[in-house]
Amino acid sequence: MEEMNMGFATKAVHAGQHGDPVTGAMVSPMFLTSTFVWTPEKMERYQNGDKAGIFTYGRSRNPTQNDIQDKIKTLYGAPACLVTSSGMAAISLAILSFVHPGDHIISGKTIYGGTFGLFSHIFEEMKIDVTFLQDLSEESLNNALRPNTKLIYSESVYNPTLEICEVDRIAQWAKSKGIVSMIDNTFLSPYLFNPFEHGIDVVVESATKYINGHGDVIAGHICGQADFIERIRSSIYQEIGSVPSPFSCWLMLRGLKTLHLRMKAQCENAMEVAKWLEKSPLVEKVIYPGLASHPQHALATELYGKRGYGAMISFVVKGGLEGGQKFMNHIKLAKYAVSLGDLDTMAEQPATQTHGKMSREERMLMGIDDGMIRLSIGVEDVRDIIADVEQALNA
Ligand SMILES: Cc1ncc(COP(=O)(O)O)c(C=O)c1O
Repeated sequence: MEEMNMGFATKAVHAGQHGDPVTGAMVSPMFLTSTFVWTPEKMERYQNGDKAGIFTYGRSRNPTQNDIQDKIKTLYGAPACLVTSSGMAAISLAILSFVHPGDHIISGKTIYGGTFGLFSHIFEEMKIDVTFLQDLSEESLNNALRPNTKLIYSESVYNPTLEICEVDRIAQWAKSKGIVSMIDNTFLSPYLFNPFEHGIDVVVESATKYINGHGDVIAGHICGQADFIERIRSSIYQEIGSVPSPFSCWLMLRGLKTLHLRMKAQCENAMEVAKWLEKSPLVEKVIYPGLASHPQHALATELYGKRGYGAMISFVVKGGLEGGQKFMNHIKLAKYAVSLGDLDTMAEQPATQTHGKMSREERMLMGIDDGMIRLSIGVEDVRDIIADVEQALNA
């Protein structure tokens, strides 16, 4: 049976699992080695151009890394994948492999704080100009376009406002202007949404989140055309040195096998928690793409709702900044933490944590209220998650 015709769950379990022909081990072993021994035959193949099939040094290629790349690229139906030492490494390398000093990028405004920092501080020092757009309408994009624009960058779901990117329109616009479209798909993962099916050129993702799913790895990946990925691997990837350890790759191989099970359970839990929150008199507003009250509920349904609406919920408690802080100080089961996508439910207050470096005006412009709480829903029994949220709200 052709791997590409298999269902998502079958691919999640089997893709990239090459086992071990020597011992017959079903699960791929982990190659904890930094270097590989040369042989005259290997050297000859290498000199004849067979670089992809030859392992030399772990900073460029390792068999365990190859396995996880095979799994991720199969889940996205992408020609190639490169795993990196973090999500930020994936974003930086993917962009810096073709955007150079003097070039220009158009980016959504509501993006992950680390990416915002990279674009606004480091790229500024490197003389790479970034125009942040609050609204990615055709008119705004056309106004922002310059002769040196190389890239349009966005996240598939904005953080923490859970606004949904109109991916098809952005991909078409980028194609019509001859620039690269890149999407950070961290909030959705390939289980819920595949940007390549909507014409996007490059997908980056923090594999720290749903890809690994167990809160014990920091990693990222870049998926795209084979020549694009090979160009990154053979130059900036090795030269900057952003390879994840074989152990991280092995943990991701194991974690990714259950992506479909985890995500399904997390989405179901999130829907119930969101519905419960919407009825609470202590909550001013609930933002969850699965609720009819979400302004883009129809778009979410069209793009990814058939499998679920994601496991991230934002809501605004009464009492502003102080109310939000009180809530955070009283959660017991949910972890007070900035990450997301793990089996454990986590909560954070954007105004004091992920978006705390922005001014209040900037946050308000992005739709981040002082009393906003962001929940990353885990796989616990949903009644326990709700009971925890309820007691923290009452407090
Ligand atoms: C949407 C998004 N993109 C990228 C990153 C960066 O990923 P990492 O922490 O793996 O470098 C994060 C981290 O929280 C994120 O939320």
